Order: sequence, then structure tokens, then C-alpha cells
Amino acid sequence: MASTWRSSQSSPTTGLDTPIEPDSPSITNSPNDCDGTKSLTDSVYEFPKENGRTYHGFRAGTYNFPNDPNEADRLDFQYEILKFCFQDKNYFAPLTSPRNILDIGTGTGQWAIEMGDEFPNAEVQATDLSPIQPDTVPENVQFFIDDAAEEDWAVPAAHFDFVHTRVMLGCFEDFREIINRAYYYTKPGGYMESQEIMSTLYCDDGTMSKDYPFLKWNKDLDEAAMRAGRPMRIGNKLKRWYEQAGFVDVQEKVFKLPVNPWPRDKHLKQLGKMQEANWLAGLAAISLGLFHRVFGWTKTEIEVRSCAVGNVGKC
Ligand SMILES: C[S@@+](CC[C@H](N)C(=O)[O-])C[C@H]1O[C@@H](n2cnc3c(N)ncnc32)[C@H](O)[C@@H]1O
Repeated sequence: MASTWRSSQSSPTTGLDTPIEPDSPSITNSPNDCDGTKSLTDSVYEFPKENGRTYHGFRAGTYNFPNDPNEADRLDFQYEILKFCFQDKNYFAPLTSPRNILDIGTGTGQWAIEMGDEFPNAEVQATDLSPIQPDTVPENVQFFIDDAAEEDWAVPAAHFDFVHTRVMLGCFEDFREIINRAYYYTKPGGYMESQEIMSTLYCDDGTMSKDYPFLKWNKDLDEAAMRAGRPMRIGNKLKRWYEQAGFVDVQEKVFKLPVNPWPRDKHLKQLGKMQEANWLAGLAAISLGLFHRVFGWTKTEIEVRSCAVGNVGKC
């Protein structure tokens, strides 16, 4: 897996063994600047701007959602929502004392940080395309800029006790490849766990009309993601894909995630309230890149469509 890391050096061949170091002025002044070429390290820190949002520079264009502070805040909030949904759990695998943990597509790194705290004897490695993780983290947590779609994860086979992915819908051409690779890099007796949001909208009491704006937005998003070759609907296929990869005793847990506070149940109502705020904060972030790149819609057009979704309604 080609990787880069936060330091003044630049190497396209370093991998998970090389931690990202804190930002410093020397990073952007790569020796390569003078001959007009850009180092891999530079590309990591150059965030292309599009429609007022920034996107990852490393492997630019492969991930269709922003990486700016607004989106980072939303990811942190989404992390709280999922913790609330999972009754404060970060994982469901029966872990005892894992030594090597990998979080693929760590985002702002909250999961990795909490795992580092919970398992002080473990090494937690966490990868992403964007360097948007905090600098101050537990000593046993390391962030790497890395493309999980690359074949070589730069660690020995059977290295990890636990491989984790969360909310990676729309990220990969074929998530099966990630699972297959994770199988190769997981120790016999180790675990992999994926926590996915199923993007399809469901309605428990049949009151969702066909012209419900959120439904329309959701279908557009699904189509754009399919056309971009980055499918969103992976959650319902994970169990089968895990089994096909060779994992055994595969458990699937399904949680309801209401999109607004309509449920009577107090826990679900609170969850829906949080998720409604998450959707409303994320509509533009989630749709801008895909709708613009795939359908060619302008920012204004996309904002008008997103406004129509503003009232998420009951479903
Ligand atoms: C929706 S965010 C989820 C982040 C985190 N897992 C969470 O639950 O908050 C998806 C993350 O995956 C990262 N990502 C997308 N494609 C990737 C790839 N090929 N390799 C590594 N990370 C990737 C993105 O940069 C983004 O931070």
C-alpha cells in the first residue's frame, strides 16, 4: 500500500509502520518544490477546493465527501450518535487482549483513540486519505495516510487481532476486496468488524410517500454513487461478503436508526433527534461532490434540492 506520513520526508513506499508526525512548517517546503514536481507528502496536505468545500489531496478524487472542519465536526457528532445507538459500545467482537488493532478510514480518529485508551497494551493503527486526526493522542495510537484500496497494507500477513471499519459506504469500488485483504492480514482467531449505515430509507408504518423529498434525494445520491463506482448500499451484504472471504462465526446485528424524533421509545426518539441534526448538517457535504461530479449540477441547484429535504419528516 503506498503511503505517506506527516514529516518532512517523502516516500511513496512507507506504510503502516511509519507514523504520521505532527504538522510543522518544514512539511510543506519539500525539496521537490524547487524542480516543479510535487512530493506525495505535499499532496496529502493540499486539499483541492470545490464548491466552497475541501477534499482530500492524497489519491485526489477517489472519495467524494469533504474533509474540512465542518465535515470533521459532523463526523465527530456522528461518532457520538453511533455510540448512543450501540449503548456506549465501540465494538461487538468478543475481544480479550488484542495486541494489534487496525481502523480503516478512521476519519477524525475518535474510535482509534478510545480503543487506544481501552487497550493500553495494544498498538492501534488507523489509516485515512486525509490527515484530519488530532496530534495529541494516546501513545499507542498511530495515524497513517494510506489508501486501503491498495493491495499491500505494509504489515506482515496475519498481523492484526482486530480490523475495524465504520461508515465506509460510498468509499470503495468493491468493499469485498477490503474484506478479503483484511482476512489476509488478520491473525487466525482474530476478528474483523464493520459498522455500516444502510443508506436506504425504510418506513415502519407505510406513511412515506413516493414524492417524499428526502427519499428523492436519497435515490439521487444512490444513483450518483453507483455511477461514480462507489456503491452506498453495502451494509446488507457484509455478512455474506465476510463469509465468502473465509471468516467464520459471522454475526450480524441490525439497529434501527430513525431519521428524526418521531419514535415513541425514548432511546429511539433521542437517536432520531440526533440523526436528524446529523442529516441536516450533512446534506450539502454528502451530496455536493457526488451531485456535481456525476450529474454536473451546480452548487445552487444542489442547495435548492437540499433545502427541499430540510424538513426530513417521519419515516
Ligand atoms: C464517512 S468517513 C468515516 C470515518 C470514521 N470511520 C467514522 O466512523 O467517523 C469515511 C472516511 O474514510 C476515508 N477513506 C475513504 N476512502 C479511503 C481509502 N481508500 N483508504 C483509506 N481511507 C479512506 C475518508 O477519508 C473518510 O475519512
